[in-house]
Amino acid sequence: MIFYNESTREFHLQAKNVSYIFTVLRNNQLGHLYYGKKLRHRDSFDHLHKEKPRSNTSSVFEGDESFSLDVQKQEFPSYGTTDYREPAYQILQSNGSRITNLEYKSHKIYKGKKPLEGLPATYVEDENEASTLEISLYDKLIDVEILLSYTVFEAYNAITRSVQFVNHGQEEVSLTRALSASVDFFDSDYEMVQLSGSWSRERHIKQRKLVPGMQSISSARGASGTQQNPFLALKRPAADEHQGEVYGFSFVYSGNFLAQVEVDQYDVSRMMMGINPFDFNWLLESGESFQAPEVVMVYSDKGLNDMSQTYHELYRKRLARGKWRDKERPVLTNNWEGTYFDFDEQKILEIAGASKELGVELFVLDDGWFGKRDDDTTSLGDWFVDKRKLPNGVTGLAKQVNELGMDFGLWFEPEMVSKKSELYSAHPEWVIHVPERSLSHGRNQYVLDFSRKEVVDYIYRSMAEILSKAPISYVKWDMNRYMTEIFSVDLPASRQRELPHRYILGVYELYERLTSDFPDVLFESCASGGARFDPGMLHYAPQTWTSDDTDAVERLKIQYGTSLVYPVSSIGAHVSDVPNHQVGRITSLDTRANVAYFGAFGYELDVTKMSEEDRDKVKHQIRFYKENRRLILNGTFYRLESPFAGDGNVTSWMVVSEDKREALVGRYQILSLPNTGFKRILLQGLDKELEYSIEGLKGTFFGDELMYAGIQLDQFPDEIRATDFSSQIFKLSAK
Ligand code: DGJ
Repeated sequence: MIFYNESTREFHLQAKNVSYIFTVLRNNQLGHLYYGKKLRHRDSFDHLHKEKPRSNTSSVFEGDESFSLDVQKQEFPSYGTTDYREPAYQILQSNGSRITNLEYKSHKIYKGKKPLEGLPATYVEDENEASTLEISLYDKLIDVEILLSYTVFEAYNAITRSVQFVNHGQEEVSLTRALSASVDFFDSDYEMVQLSGSWSRERHIKQRKLVPGMQSISSARGASGTQQNPFLALKRPAADEHQGEVYGFSFVYSGNFLAQVEVDQYDVSRMMMGINPFDFNWLLESGESFQAPEVVMVYSDKGLNDMSQTYHELYRKRLARGKWRDKERPVLTNNWEGTYFDFDEQKILEIAGASKELGVELFVLDDGWFGKRDDDTTSLGDWFVDKRKLPNGVTGLAKQVNELGMDFGLWFEPEMVSKKSELYSAHPEWVIHVPERSLSHGRNQYVLDFSRKEVVDYIYRSMAEILSKAPISYVKWDMNRYMTEIFSVDLPASRQRELPHRYILGVYELYERLTSDFPDVLFESCASGGARFDPGMLHYAPQTWTSDDTDAVERLKIQYGTSLVYPVSSIGAHVSDVPNHQVGRITSLDTRANVAYFGAFGYELDVTKMSEEDRDKVKHQIRFYKENRRLILNGTFYRLESPFAGDGNVTSWMVVSEDKREALVGRYQILSLPNTGFKRILLQGLDKELEYSIEGLKGTFFGDELMYAGIQLDQFPDEIRATDFSSQIFKLSAK
């Protein structure tokens, strides 16, 4: 529901259990009044609004001594009049001025939600699922309009926001800052939760108490990156996984971003999120507009799990798209860690054949099938088959894999080029670089200038050629380096700082064309593991390769952290060989599978080299996953015990079916401990009244017992807990 109080000029956005209220201030700019637990609607919220300056140093408006933005909570703040905090936007005018006065002009409220042109965004399937408020702000001196859009999803505690800047004037202006959302919170008694990491240890949960001044996370790498994920949450210090107030902010974007919280002198906390203003500038010529990407705000008064569940459901059902959105994902074998670049058709068919016998449904051929790519120094951009390795081409191989009774998938890295390639020889100017300066590389590769239409067109044609000829049902879209020497020989000087955003728009365009022209293909995004695991990518590819680190112990933190925002169905999770290729650790095949079950499951090893005994285990694992994947991929996910808490020795999580009649619990213990007390796992999300049996355990248990008294772990055989890296899976079924 969206209400407008005409006499007080107030907007009240109500989602399932949340209210978001703002008003038109006396100076005609927008002031923020409230964001939190649902309030009943009333004719006026004026009592939530205070105006008088609180300090002698506050600057006040000309002709109005009592009015200062310094003490106002604002809705979409500007800098340069009386507010000294960082603004949501800045518009540079031809005379050098950055001062603007964007006043409320009009608004409209309608059912449904419009798509954002060229950008990923949440959507509705039926216009009754959501209502949208569009507010027009207008600066009459420079003839510039800002359109703020808010969508309230009726069935979720979610409000989405985006912003459009339109230059109606004759003169050009520049956006030096164009964030997508800003919220001024009443106080600063919050902890900021973020997902930070690096290659191989992506999305670890970090939290810090807010302090006066600025705290921020960002990316300036040309991709969202592993270092920080485009997400932050503000939670009350006492809030935890299961209770307390949490505000999540997630940015539907895959490029440079900024998320920051500024705590001001009055303990007001200003949260902002959008495209990173660092090294950004967007020229708006007369008549042009700029669309900033979407921010998804989720509120919960029931802790982090509840916030995550809202994101999971919304992103699974109303951000991801296409045929694979709701389909059970195939169990796959990927040959990367099994062979790296060293394979030929025969080897691949052996692995595929052996995988088929184990129950695998999809074989994925990873890097190394094109050009002359025997290592990572060559051939990116040359998307034609290497006949030395695959004499019958991709089509011939794919058909043979199909004949084995499996689907076939293929790896691409569309955005990159190697210097040793035909593409680079033909078009060195297609690379992002500064002429006459040295050019850094990452993994011997260079970033194609996806701001250029002809580059995107060329890569589209190369990929479409293969996808239309070979029976390919899955594409792994990799991206293995960040940008450097950011410059396009195709853009004028005044638009160089637009390049990173234009590049991402080019990536989205290619995704859009390929996903709509090949609607049956399941796309999995990837970026050196999880360097672009963000909501933007999920709009096109419903699953993402979570991390190159497939060690079962490392994966606990990675998958636990990732689940803060991203649904289990999006988390690519594979069983790989031991000693693990990233950390050298040896964990049991059981534990590796018990971790990987909670994701889009597969194997990443040479199954032909496995022992008979291990092969039998794998058969059993695949059967188990297939039996349970509907529950795993569509159920409600609960984090129970955190690898980030205490000594991190125990992690547990579970997934519960929508009707609560089935559940699957995973418990993992890193080090075996001597002579400990008895342990239990307190479950979540069950039906108190239902009587459940647990596979392998005697008797039955009521939902309330399992949630309040827990599963008592002394009921299990000693050998399970007597080794390091142990794990248990509990399957619950209601009678
Ligand atoms: C990085 C990916 O994360 C890996 O899974 C693999 O596809 C390699 N690239 C191939 O170069």
